[in-house]
Amino acid sequence: MSNATVEHFATLRGTLRVPGDKSTSHRALMVSALADGESTIRGLSSGLDVTATSQIMEQLGATRDDRDDVVTIIGPTKGLHASDDALDCGNSGTTMRLLAGVVSGVPGEHQLVGDASLSQRPMDRVAEPLTLMGSHVEGRGARLSAPLRIRGTAALHGIDYAVPMSSAQVKSAVLFAALGAEGPTTVVEHVRTRPTTEEMFSRAGVSVASVESGEGRRITIHPGRPLARNWLVPGDPSQAAFFAVLGCIHPDADIEVLDIDSAPERIGFLSVLRRMGATMTVRSPDSMTSFRVRSSQLNAAEVYASEIPSVDEVPVLVVAAAAAEGLSRFRDVGELRVKESDRFQASLALATKLGCRAWSEGDDLFVEGLGSATRFAHFELDAALDHRLVMASAVAGCAGAGCSIGAAHTVASSYPRFFDDVERLA
Ligand code: S3P
Repeated sequence: MSNATVEHFATLRGTLRVPGDKSTSHRALMVSALADGESTIRGLSSGLDVTATSQIMEQLGATRDDRDDVVTIIGPTKGLHASDDALDCGNSGTTMRLLAGVVSGVPGEHQLVGDASLSQRPMDRVAEPLTLMGSHVEGRGARLSAPLRIRGTAALHGIDYAVPMSSAQVKSAVLFAALGAEGPTTVVEHVRTRPTTEEMFSRAGVSVASVESGEGRRITIHPGRPLARNWLVPGDPSQAAFFAVLGCIHPDADIEVLDIDSAPERIGFLSVLRRMGATMTVRSPDSMTSFRVRSSQLNAAEVYASEIPSVDEVPVLVVAAAAAEGLSRFRDVGELRVKESDRFQASLALATKLGCRAWSEGDDLFVEGLGSATRFAHFELDAALDHRLVMASAVAGCAGAGCSIGAAHTVASSYPRFFDDVERLA
């Protein structure tokens, strides 16, 4: 357990690249392992979550070779096979949920385990559709938490499935299982979530049709083995969000972040900050987005979960709301409760520790801002195995009066260099 002490830095200046997108990194490893032959991945995230996925793909029969920043994955010609050892997903919900889809199509018994945080998280949301496809999934308690036992089979069949919550992980688990199923599979989502899986499948030669309808999307895929490809991983927008908020609320900052994934489902936080009055320029010349933010006087905003479908950026936007003038409202953000920690309660607690009045009504969160991060109180917080809480707290401490974060080492799940990157800006 390591503690981090974060000080207020007088000035923040600089340009940075955040780690490779975690979502793309997991999927690049899985798609490459499922393909026959040699794929390469540039810009892979070095976070522990992605390392867990990589090690599991090796356990299932893929081989990995690293040269400079290029990772080569060779998918076995005969396809993946079950491992005698448990598949350790660590802290990573994306690993466990997507993997549940992958191994459902790999004949044999699979045991999926995780750390204390992951072992609390609901896996019934993937077990339900995978069972409908012919997989057999056992877990603990009513919500089927890890450890999971999955009996994979080569005889899965395609389904039509409406994902009941907003979740790219559930959608992706079904799509991965659908690769080896008999007949097509259609997944309907009521809110458009990150399209990473279906876009990467399509680039790997899998037949995918994706149609938008209302706020949602209908994705149909035909079974098929992905082709080996050369993948380039863009920067991770969810990590960039910490620097976007830091640049806005810090009293003397000018920060540029280069080349992040530009999917609209990922960069909603930039629109929210713009609405709050951020001094910001955004460029998307090609498939990637870069932005520059400067110290800004923020105003309160009304934020809807559909703008930020994974709600990953909500804790740090709560910090922005705490520095803004007026009452911010975060609508329909109940999914925060089932992330790496209960981020719903943790966001309320963080805003309160900073000195704000903050409360909830149902799935809505309310934060009355202090008008400036210079009014934040110094605070102490335990990150409870939640990397995004470490970073949201560090942003508040660095822009405000400093803080002390317990169990800060958990930042390595997604962003091992986070504290170094903040210090470089100082
Ligand atoms: C992810 C989806 C989101 C997000 C997570 C990564 C993905 O989870 O919170 O960090 O890569 O598919 P949900 O599917 O639970 O929204």
